[in-house]
Amino acid sequence: MKFTIAVLPGDGIGPEITQQSVKVLKAIAERFEHEFKFEEALVGAAAMDLFETPLPDSTLKICKNSDAVLFGAIGDPKYDNDPSAKVRPEQGLLKLRKELGLFANIRPVKAYDKLINKSPLKAENIQGANMVIFRELTGGIYFGEKSTSEDGKSASDLCTYSVEEIERIAHLAFQAAQKRSKKLTLVDKANVLETSRLWRKTVTSLAKKYEDVTLDFLFIDNAAMQMILNPKQFDVILTENMFGDILSDEASVIGGSIGLLESASIGNKYSMFEPIHGSYPQAKGKGIANPVASILSAAMMLDHFGLTEEAKLVRNAVEISIQLNVCTKDINNDNHYSTEKVGDFLESVISDIDDLPIN
Ligand code: IPM
Ligand code: MN
Repeated sequence: MKFTIAVLPGDGIGPEITQQSVKVLKAIAERFEHEFKFEEALVGAAAMDLFETPLPDSTLKICKNSDAVLFGAIGDPKYDNDPSAKVRPEQGLLKLRKELGLFANIRPVKAYDKLINKSPLKAENIQGANMVIFRELTGGIYFGEKSTSEDGKSASDLCTYSVEEIERIAHLAFQAAQKRSKKLTLVDKANVLETSRLWRKTVTSLAKKYEDVTLDFLFIDNAAMQMILNPKQFDVILTENMFGDILSDEASVIGGSIGLLESASIGNKYSMFEPIHGSYPQAKGKGIANPVASILSAAMMLDHFGLTEEAKLVRNAVEISIQLNVCTKDINNDNHYSTEKVGDFLESVISDIDDLPIN
C-alpha cells in the first residue's frame, strides 16, 4: 500500500530519534512491499530560526497533504526563561494540534517485566500494570482566552469545555475500554471546577450507551497518588488536557523511562504520532536519546493505517531489543547502545526475522 508521511523532527533530540523511526518504517515498507513517501518539514524553534514562526504555512500544508504526521519533539531552552517572548516553539505544536483537529491523545503505559527494577516504584506494585490514557488535546486551559493586565500584575488563562468536545473523546475512550478490561476512570476535579462537573455529567450520561464498561471517577489529586500507589487498578483513563499532560508524565515512571512512551493524536480527518517526552536539549547530538518512544509511535501509525501485522512486528522488535539489553543509557547504563545503534538493531530484526509475530 502507498502512504505519504509528513516527518516533523522539530527540536533537541527530535531529529535523531525521528531518523530511527524513519529507518524502521523503511524496513517495514521493504519487507511488506509498501510504498512510504516521507515529506520532511520544519516545526518549533527549528522553524523559528528560519521563518520566525514555529509553524510555517508550508509545514501545515505538508501535514494536511499527508496520510499521517510523525512528530519528533519541540522546545528550546533559549525561549524557556524569557517570559516576555511573544512567540514560543511550543505554540507550533499547539497550533498544529488545533489546525489538524487532533482532539484525542492516546498514551499507552505499561510495565515491562525486564525493566521492572528500572522504576523507582516497588516491583510488586507495578508488575502487570497496563493502561491507556485518553488525554483531551485541543481544549481546556491550554486553548482558552489568555491575557495579562497592562500593568503586568495579573494574568489569566481561561478553561472552557463544551459537551461536544467531551463527548467525542469520551466515545473513543469507552470504545477502547470495550476492547480492553472494560473499565473507564474519569479523572477530574469536580469538587472544585465547573468544567469538571460538565465532564462528569456528560460522561455519565454517555455511559448508558456502553453498559459493558464500568465507569468510575477520581479527583486528579487522588489519581496522581493512586498512579504511584496502585497503578494496576487502571485500565482506560479519560481526562482533560492539562491533567492528562501531567498524569502521563507521572505514569511514565511505571515503564522505567519516559523514553519508552509513545502516543497517537487523533482527529476526524488527520492524525499525528508523537513521543510523550520533550526535546531533552541537554542530550541533543550526543547519541544517548532513546528512540523507542518515537518508534512505538510509528507502530501506532501503522495500526492506524490498518497495517496490524507490521505494527506487531515493530513492537516485537522493540521487545527483543529490551530482552537483549540493546538499549540506550536511560535503560542500560552499564553497557549502553547509541540512539543510532538501537535504530540499526531494530531495523535488522525487522528485515531479518523469519517468523512473523503471532501475538
Ligand atoms: C506534551 C508536551 C506538550 C504539551 C508541550 C511541549 C506543549 O508536554 O506533548 O505532553 O504540554 O502538550
Ligand atoms: Mn507533556
